[in-house]
Amino acid sequence: MEEKREEKVLYSAVQPSGNLTIGNYIGAIRNWVNMQHEFTCFYAIADMHAITVRQEPALLRRRTLELAALYIACGIDPEKCTLYVQSNVPAHAELAWVLNTVTYVGEMERMTQFKDKAARHAENVNMGLMDYPVLMAADILLYQAHLVPVGVDQRQHLEITRDIAIRFNNRYGETFRVPEAYIVKEGAKITSLQDPLRKMSKSDENPNASVYLADDKDTIMRKFKRAVTDSDNRIAVSEDKPGVTNLLNIYASFKGCTVAEAEKAFEGKGYGDFKLAVGETVADALAPVQAEQKRLLADKGYLADILRRGAESAAYTARKTLAKVFRKVGFYRGE
Ligand code: TYM
Repeated sequence: MEEKREEKVLYSAVQPSGNLTIGNYIGAIRNWVNMQHEFTCFYAIADMHAITVRQEPALLRRRTLELAALYIACGIDPEKCTLYVQSNVPAHAELAWVLNTVTYVGEMERMTQFKDKAARHAENVNMGLMDYPVLMAADILLYQAHLVPVGVDQRQHLEITRDIAIRFNNRYGETFRVPEAYIVKEGAKITSLQDPLRKMSKSDENPNASVYLADDKDTIMRKFKRAVTDSDNRIAVSEDKPGVTNLLNIYASFKGCTVAEAEKAFEGKGYGDFKLAVGETVADALAPVQAEQKRLLADKGYLADILRRGAESAAYTARKTLAKVFRKVGFYRGE
């Protein structure tokens, strides 16, 4: 591993629970790439989180591998960071159990994501769904992470992670570093193309609401053409123009410019041209990522090897924290 400029540890993960959207890309994965040069990074594929809603087993396995390939295709270098599958490191489940005992049911019931998902999956409000933030806290705390780069929708989970860490430290003595969320301003919340007040989500039932990283150019162009805007034909960031604001955010993120520069680029243009330009920009940026992901998926042996080495390296770090926790809570470990 190369020498990092900072000693700080960074942790993040994505669930292999559906087709990834450009929201996941802009809000999370893309930023991870720049950070791998500066920090000691752990990037996981959160398959244990994914099964809190029902998954087709064969599909979950396939998506796990696809996500690993995608991470690498986006520019995450497995030689520079630790890339692994959450369920391959048993310490996550073990720490989650201990953290459960310093977490209150009431806190979990108040989590907005739990309430949303419980409403959407009323037939399957399982314990795992409720316990989801505790497993997430275990992920982060095991690696003594300083920073957790996420989109805005995960802010509440980061806050509860901090609460759990502080509570454990108070009860048992200094054990965990208290992590901070790292939320980039641009692209922290990409919203649905059909309902721009809601976040763009992998699990949206309307396929036109989300642009998937796997979409081909025609599909991408069609989705942007149909994107909901408004009737005044002015291209500007404004609270009363959530659709246009979202498109400007997407454009700026993929173009690598500021939103103000994006506004300027479209001064005097109509919505038709604007949407075409956003679509072209996104499709052109995604094409090389898609090609590289496909190339990587053809070599399953290579991916398996990366993930095996990643899990070994993650387990090594995780076990150190877990041993400390077990000692603090009083588990018998022999002489
Ligand atoms: P997940 O899989 O829902 O999303 C992965 C990442 O993408 C971000 N994101 C978005 N950002 C901007 N706009 C959007 N529309 C958008 N949709 C999603 C999310 O904020 C997230 O950063 N619980 C996590 C996975 C996880 C995790 C962790 C994250 C498990 N353990 C430990 C950090 C640390 C999740 O469901 O992400």
